[in-house]
Amino acid sequence: HAILILNGPNLNLLGTRQPEVYGPTTLQDIEALCAAKAAALNVTMDFVQSNHEGVLIDHLHAARGRFDGIILNAGAYTHSSIALMDAVSSIMLPLVELHLSNIHAREAFRHHSYIAPVAVGQICGFGAAGYALAIEALVGYLGTHG
Ligand code: DQA
Repeated sequence: HAILILNGPNLNLLGTRQPEVYGPTTLQDIEALCAAKAAALNVTMDFVQSNHEGVLIDHLHAARGRFDGIILNAGAYTHSSIALMDAVSSIMLPLVELHLSNIHAREAFRHHSYIAPVAVGQICGFGAAGYALAIEALVGYLGTHG
């Protein structure tokens, strides 16, 4: 299987961005963690970050036929983007929603996710380790659903 790990706005700043909320791990560290987890589970992965809503949508569209499933940390677009939600609905690929922080324990405006209703499931609150959990969850899902 091939999986796409898509990261949204401001996640390029991980490591220096609010480390008390998001931890000390950089996105580069997270990419390495994902590469190791994917290799251990015998799947290939692409790891992408963009600060631009339309670019994220383009990556979702381009995933059709190239990837079997997606892990999406949409950052703040999670809480605002009907366009991202529609893109996820349109591509017919299983998607795991991911957040480093526990969005349900934070400000009220982070409690609602436009991604959750179109995702297989959501993982949040486990920091960088959540990426490995999301890969396991997605690969497990792909194993039972094709
Ligand atoms: C985040 C949570 C979002 O609310 C926030 O806007 C982010 C990061 C997370 O990984 O915890 O940018 O998606």
